[in-house]
Amino acid sequence: AIPVVLDVDTGVDDACALLLAALHPALDLRAVSCVGGNAPVDAVVANTLTALDAAGRPDVPVARGADRPLLEEPVDARHVHGQDGMGDLDWARSERVPDPRHAVELLRDVLHEAADHGDDARRITLIPLAPLTNIALLLRTYPSVAKGIREIVFMGGAAEVGNATASAEFNVFHDPEAAAVVLDACADLDIPVTMYGLDVFYAPRISIETARKLAAPGGHGAAELAGRLIEFQCERFGSVDATIGDAGAVCAVLEPAGVRREQLPVRVELAGTWSRGRTIVDRRDWSGDLSHDPHGQARSSIDVCLEVDAQRYATLWLDTVSGGMR
Ligand code: BDR
Ligand code: CA
Repeated sequence: AIPVVLDVDTGVDDACALLLAALHPALDLRAVSCVGGNAPVDAVVANTLTALDAAGRPDVPVARGADRPLLEEPVDARHVHGQDGMGDLDWARSERVPDPRHAVELLRDVLHEAADHGDDARRITLIPLAPLTNIALLLRTYPSVAKGIREIVFMGGAAEVGNATASAEFNVFHDPEAAAVVLDACADLDIPVTMYGLDVFYAPRISIETARKLAAPGGHGAAELAGRLIEFQCERFGSVDATIGDAGAVCAVLEPAGVRREQLPVRVELAGTWSRGRTIVDRRDWSGDLSHDPHGQARSSIDVCLEVDAQRYATLWLDTVSGGMR
């Protein structure tokens, strides 16, 4: 199984991603770190523990991380994700307590352990699905963790339109400095990066009828929670289907051939009147200003997901969270 660690701001669609990562037999979910984003960090921790309980995975360590972006005040998205950050489902809350370590320390320990084995197969795929605050702090504080990281596949950014603003995607908008630090550190530390951004994020979708079948009583906890999370989104947006959202980035680790990627230079806009937090993706045919650092050193590009086989990822998610019961 592929060893993975998720960094989340659970979050309706982060919960969809947690269910997939916790239940899929080809993934070995080693730890989950939490950060303030969709909801304040304490709510994120509670939601994350609850989602893992529903998946029958109380063994996965969960730690509380940054409660605010590096520079700005937090601005949550409870108008999208519900007051509790996870759909206000009236679902029994987990009684488990989180790991006593700070999320950055939990990540450090898990990644150092992976590095210490010196065995390539044990290196971890890090999947951030939230503002990148924890990951920026991690890479700047403990750059030696790079040896334990196989790759980073993150949900964030957009080559085209944003969602938090016309320009910017929520996770990058929420902490642009952290996103800039992560891209910069990954270029320095030779960590391969894939950006699963808004160009693909909304495409894999589940219909409300399917969600209702999943949520019907008599099923197991993960299927019911999965169904109710999709139902919540359909009701909130008055739509007949809803995206699996962050879960798509986990699909991209499981089935990389389901996305079309291009290696492109990407930078985060830190200024701008209307564009702060935008990921600037250079799609020109020749290399230009984004391909070098200020000292003229070449800077590596990252893989940007530009198209997704939406049906394939929706089916992958559904088959996994339903446990074959649909
Ligand atoms: C991202 O922001 C959050 O609302 C979602 O959980 C996802 O990670 C989409 O822009
Ligand atoms: Ca998220």
